[in-house]
Amino acid sequence: MTQDTAAAVVMFSPAQRVRAIGVSEILRITDRANALKRAGRPVIVLGAGEPDFDTPLNIREAAVRAIGQGDTRYTVLDGSPAMKAAVQLKFRRDNALDFGLDEISVSAGAKQVIFNALMASLNPGDEVILPAPYWTSYADIVQICGGVPVPVACGEENGFRLTAAQLEAAITPRTRWLFLNSPSNPSGAAYSAAQLQPLCEVLLRHPQVWVLADDIYEHILYDGLAFATPVAVEPRLRERTLTVNGVSKAYAMTGWRVGYGAGPRALIAAMAVVQSQSTSCPSSISQAAAIEALTGSQDIVAERCADFQARRDFVVAALNRIPGLHCRVPEGAFYTFASCAGVLGKRTRDGALLQTDSDFCRYLLQEVEVAVVPGSVFGLAPYFRISYATSMAQLEEACSRIAAACEALT
Ligand SMILES: Cc1ncc(COP(=O)(O)O)c(C=O)c1O
Repeated sequence: MTQDTAAAVVMFSPAQRVRAIGVSEILRITDRANALKRAGRPVIVLGAGEPDFDTPLNIREAAVRAIGQGDTRYTVLDGSPAMKAAVQLKFRRDNALDFGLDEISVSAGAKQVIFNALMASLNPGDEVILPAPYWTSYADIVQICGGVPVPVACGEENGFRLTAAQLEAAITPRTRWLFLNSPSNPSGAAYSAAQLQPLCEVLLRHPQVWVLADDIYEHILYDGLAFATPVAVEPRLRERTLTVNGVSKAYAMTGWRVGYGAGPRALIAAMAVVQSQSTSCPSSISQAAAIEALTGSQDIVAERCADFQARRDFVVAALNRIPGLHCRVPEGAFYTFASCAGVLGKRTRDGALLQTDSDFCRYLLQEVEVAVVPGSVFGLAPYFRISYATSMAQLEEACSRIAAACEALT
């Protein structure tokens, strides 16, 4: 290469929209934990956002049949008619909601549904209200799509739920969406119909605000609580609500990449435009598997939920026995979101001062080799999230290590 051509090489520079988004702290923690594991350390990683059990056999068999039958071509771009019919059935059966096939969009995961919806609807500077703690990806997707995330801190005193007064105060003329995620990642908090009602009343007064209801953890809800979703609670919101769901969590199908949304035709059509120029359609084989998940036996869903509830009970009780930690009982999902306020201000054996939840999480990884995620990543500190989608044996070991680490602080 001559000097001239060498000088012509321009270093890669990421686009502005990507530059605003840092590498996720969750990935950083997971990378660090995995590096320790590779080095032979007995690290316990409680960061995963996916069920630890296998996709049920009937679902896997449906995919094998689809391959055998040559169901291997592009499908209709936002979901095959059979897949959309399965989603239609699911909404009728589980939520008493009736959607036409042209009010349904199927994508490669709920995440892509959310991405498509924001890509299709946000103009630069549009605001999206995110009750905090929130799933980190919400804020990143909003920013990629040119919007402005507006986090609203929802404290433990109201069970990590948004109040009507907070919602009213957060709405501006630029507000385009309110995100509601129940049960929530990371807090596990869920809204009952009675708790959604006052929020719906506020929304009725602000017709420019749309609602994105992320119901992905619908089937992981404990203590016999009844699941509630905004459109079912307030049908007048139907013309401006996108109800998002998927098969990842309920059927342990995170790798299959199928999610879906139901909402107003015009939005669904705009989302199809976005999808048509990105992935073209979800995988035909994964859609065949998802059809079986949604229309086949649902017994596994309740069985897994019972398993998760036993783990929740164990982890919450174990954390609440540790001086300095405090954990509210989550209503659903597979996460605990415990406060570590009581250990901040203390020192490690090396004399380091723990000032933030990130310090505490780093300390847990260094001292006792347990990887958990700080609340600040989800927009609310000082907390830490444990994913209890892992074996009881691992959870017992992890909780006793966390107890030992807290005891060692002075
Ligand atoms: C709140 C929430 N919504 C959506 C998703 C994405 O699910 P999917 O695998 O369907 O993209 C997740 C996954 O962690 C989640 O926690």
